[in-house]
Amino acid sequence: MHIFKTKQQLSLFLSGLKNKNKTIGFAPTMGALHDGHASLVIKAKQENDVAIASIFVNRKQFNNAGDFARYPKMPKEDLALLEANGCDAVFIPEENEMYDGNEPVIDLDLAVLDKGMEGKHRPGHFKGVITIVSKFFDLIKPASAYFGEKDFQQLAIIRFMTDNHFPEIKITACPTQREADGLAMSSRNLLLTSENRTNAPFIYKTLNEARLMKDKATIAAIKNYVMEKLLAINNFEPEYFDIVDANTLQSIDDFEKSKNLRACIAVWAGDVRLIDNIEF
Ligand code: PAJ
Repeated sequence: MHIFKTKQQLSLFLSGLKNKNKTIGFAPTMGALHDGHASLVIKAKQENDVAIASIFVNRKQFNNAGDFARYPKMPKEDLALLEANGCDAVFIPEENEMYDGNEPVIDLDLAVLDKGMEGKHRPGHFKGVITIVSKFFDLIKPASAYFGEKDFQQLAIIRFMTDNHFPEIKITACPTQREADGLAMSSRNLLLTSENRTNAPFIYKTLNEARLMKDKATIAAIKNYVMEKLLAINNFEPEYFDIVDANTLQSIDDFEKSKNLRACIAVWAGDVRLIDNIEF
């Protein structure tokens, strides 16, 4: 596996691929990799000649400096995981390689996609995400790029940004990978206390219970149930639970209003923020 730290090194490799007409599948990450990330790389390799991953903890998308500072870093293990899953090349730039201070700020109007859920609770977050992802797309020009459904709103926003700025790139969604107990895999799971890790599977369990209530209860009653159930867990504080149209991400207050629903949640487990979602 090739390891590139500068845009220049990477560009040299990319022009070699271009000369040979090789297609590129790209999976951007922030490291502390797990099998969820691996699933993106595996798919990228299956569907393209070459799989490229990036590891970059993007300060601009953190709305909380403490969260950025303690974001888990394990570069050695990350490289081993990528290599074991067939990744051909990884780009690991330093911060000043991606941000030289002069770059134009992407100010794409995300329509209403960023108004609720993560966009509402993490101001500036999605602007930071699309800024770095569009820089990677510009540089790498992949045929396809791979994103997890775990970050459902991010996926919708990336699709929107790509349709507008990179129509030639195909975005592929990959299903959420879970631990054996149902907890969605996340780099932040490493930060949980052992008590909170033990209780964290209740998030997914409660989402599934909510789905079972669908034919018997109103949306308001289901929302109440979920919030109260998670609030009752020691150290847990649900931030939002929303049932939205899966395409527009607009909150739905009546099941008659959409046939394609997604239930999305954010929960503080102590000082660690976890998100999850299911098809509803
Ligand atoms: P990160 O949280 O490292 O996630 C990188 C990619 O892996 C994202 O597309 C995310 O949705 C996917 N992913 C994470 N956990 C997953 C799981 N359990 N199952 C399936 N896929 C999973 O998302 C980011 O980084 C950043 O915002 C990034 C897109 C790299 C821009 O900085």
